[in-house]
Parts: sequence; C-alpha cells; structure tokens
Amino acid sequence: MLSKEDRTRLMEAARGAVSGSYSPYSRFRVGAAVLCDDGSIVTGANVENRSYGLTICAERSAVAAAVSMGKRRLAAVAVFCPDSRDPVPPCGACRQVLSEFAPADAPVLFFAGGGGTREVALGDLLPFDSLHDLAGR
Ligand code: THU
Repeated sequence: MLSKEDRTRLMEAARGAVSGSYSPYSRFRVGAAVLCDDGSIVTGANVENRSYGLTICAERSAVAAAVSMGKRRLAAVAVFCPDSRDPVPPCGACRQVLSEFAPADAPVLFFAGGGGTREVALGDLLPFDSLHDLAGR
C-alpha cells in the first residue's frame, strides 16, 4: 500500500525529472520516478535520439538508473507528461521492463499537464506477464 506521503513524494519527483528530458524531436517531455523498497526514489527522463528508434522512455531511464545503483525491488512508479492534456501510461516496452523489478500489485501513477491522475496496478497494465517465472534469476 502506497502511503499518501510516498505518493506525493513520488509524484513530485516525477514532476522534477522532466527538467532532464532530452526531447528535441518530439518536443514531448516525460519525467518518471520509481519508489524503491528501501524508501528511496530514483528518477529518469526520456532521452531521444536522431535515429528516433533508439529513444529511451523516461520509465526505462528511471529503472536503469535505479538498478545501476543496486536497487532491485521497485514498489511504485509515477510518470508525468507536462505536454499532454491526458495522463499517458507507460508503453508496452516499459511495462515489460518495469515488471522485471516491480510486483504485479505495484501502483503505476500517471498524470499530465491537463490535470487528473490515473493509478493502475502494473499487473493490470501487463496481464499474462510473459516468462514471469524467469524474473530475477
Ligand atoms: N515517452 C516516454 O518517455 N514515456 C511514455 O510513457 C510515453 C512516451 C517518450 C518517448 C518519446 O521521447 C516521447 O515520449 C514521444 O513519444
């Protein structure tokens, strides 16, 4: 269960992470934050590339940063898209990568410039999780 305090901290971290967005091609900034099981929060932003296809989403940036710091268990995720009217959930690739380190009941919060916050469990974003039994081996 995500406490109100952690929820606020996580959303503020995702909001702050937008400043790191490198998005000259889409001009669509995204900030993400992951809450680790030790209570720490790690952030990431989308990092685009002129090849387009090598773009890294904010969610995967945050996961890679957290895991690179030795974090292995993620309890919740927040994604902020200031340039969107509506909240934008993680893409399919990010859902898969998040599921490597976060349980199915981990809350995924997403909110946008236009207001309103959605909260969906990771398992509802990624049902029938492929090869789940192999995770973390
Ligand atoms: N993007 C993210 O970083 N996360 C999402 O959940 C949706 C899309 C990025 C990728 C690209 O840099 C830009 O947003 C437009 O798709």
